[in-house]
Amino acid sequence: LQRLPRIRTDVIVIGAGIAGLFTAIKASETKKVIMITKKSLLDSNTRFSQGGIAAVISDEDLPEYHMQDTLVAGAGLCDEQAVNVLVHKSPDGVKDLIRMGTQFDIENGELALTKEGAHSHRRILHAHGDATGAEIVRSLSERTKQDPNIELWDDHYVIDLITQDGECRGALVQKPDGQRVFVEANATILCSGGAGQLYRYTTNPDIATGDGIAIALRAGAEIRDVEFIQFHPTALCYPGAPRFLISEAVRGEGAILRNIKGERFMDKYHPQLELAPRDIVALAVLTEMEETKVSFVYIDITHETEEMIKHRFPTIYEFCLRYGLDLTTDWIPVAPAAHYMMGGVKTNLYGETAVKRLFACGEVSSTGVHGANRLASNSLSEAIVFGRRIIERIAELPPLNRTPSELQVAVHRKEPPQQAVIEKKLKLQKVMLRQAGMKRDAAGLQRGLDELKRQSSFFEYALMKREEYEFANLLICAMLTTNAALLRQESRGGHFREDFPQRSDAWVKHIVYRLEEGHLE
Ligand code: SIN
Repeated sequence: LQRLPRIRTDVIVIGAGIAGLFTAIKASETKKVIMITKKSLLDSNTRFSQGGIAAVISDEDLPEYHMQDTLVAGAGLCDEQAVNVLVHKSPDGVKDLIRMGTQFDIENGELALTKEGAHSHRRILHAHGDATGAEIVRSLSERTKQDPNIELWDDHYVIDLITQDGECRGALVQKPDGQRVFVEANATILCSGGAGQLYRYTTNPDIATGDGIAIALRAGAEIRDVEFIQFHPTALCYPGAPRFLISEAVRGEGAILRNIKGERFMDKYHPQLELAPRDIVALAVLTEMEETKVSFVYIDITHETEEMIKHRFPTIYEFCLRYGLDLTTDWIPVAPAAHYMMGGVKTNLYGETAVKRLFACGEVSSTGVHGANRLASNSLSEAIVFGRRIIERIAELPPLNRTPSELQVAVHRKEPPQQAVIEKKLKLQKVMLRQAGMKRDAAGLQRGLDELKRQSSFFEYALMKREEYEFANLLICAMLTTNAALLRQESRGGHFREDFPQRSDAWVKHIVYRLEEGHLE
């Protein structure tokens, strides 16, 4: 056994996307914060967000319209109270971001607003055309770095949360040199993002390994709705290029989808055509790919002027050009890629989890606003709206007494197997893509689950390296997603079962996991 050094703070924030940066800044107004990120402030899903952030700003729009659009996209599984909070509070959240230094695009003296799939009104704010996330990260990380109340621990890894009597007392953290430390805090906020790395093809960076879901599960929190995975319909699909996002805002500004024969096809699938809810567009794209036996379709915005395209989508234009694709003159090959996990750590309307003093914010959380399919650009809004409420709740928490016993960690001797973790991860990603991807059925899901279970001997080993912990966490998420997808015998939002293709009223309920127990709520 090894005795752990202990460090005390008021609030631990785990993760450095919009949820982490925003809650750290808010908390630092009155508290000491340690912000822990496993890479750097520049590594998060937020940074890659293009389209923008949804909020009712225009005089022609109303919170009720935003609510209706969110509920329709969510396919009958949203928590209406949570959506109500989101649509009414997101304009204030946007004002907070502006106060913190975020510069959104302005048109004719007003905040510029665009449209994305399943939005009835223009309500998506954006920055530098299509670099909204990068601008949010720039502005909030500048604030964070200057804030004397925020200690930034980058390159640190949270192995587990420390709990006693149903209460979170902080986190077990591994430093870059491998040393471990117990960080004790009055409140811990999980802002660690999603699990896009479950799949072979994803728009997410390599840090999105579902750590927060796995460590929250081990700490006693509840995990909800993880069968619902959102595949973005239009990720670049070109030899040698990563699955770079071609924003839904491109369709919002009039781009159309064509199959390999050049035919526009969305009229076969939904009256809202290219701007139908994202789950519907993604499935339509996959169906066209299968029917034409080609691994992509095209997105075409060539009818717009060169000036407009370069001004509105500079990041996408530049990126495609690196691969010899000119957005102003070429149809761009695209295919669906895993993009967002609708479920996560279950919270109430104040971001509180089932474990006292443990909060979850952003993609790692399941506040209930996304239901079975997230409405485009609601995720950045969710993080700031619920982030604010978490900080209000933390202000009311009584101080935590010092954890009485010294903490010790067991030092195992059983080393992980030689097979490189990278190989194991690739195998897992392929299993997930084949058996628990966009089109699922019982036989495939069962096969997938069996294959994943065969990998679970990995849990017996003494882990040391970040990638080993990440793989173990990813494996837990993979099992939860596959198991929940097997249980849910219907199709809804980001969960499509070929053997149960219809939505079923019997399934207007959630699958919730607690440690060693899966049950229906
Ligand atoms: C996009 O720009 O298409 C992504 C927006 C989102 O995922 O909300």
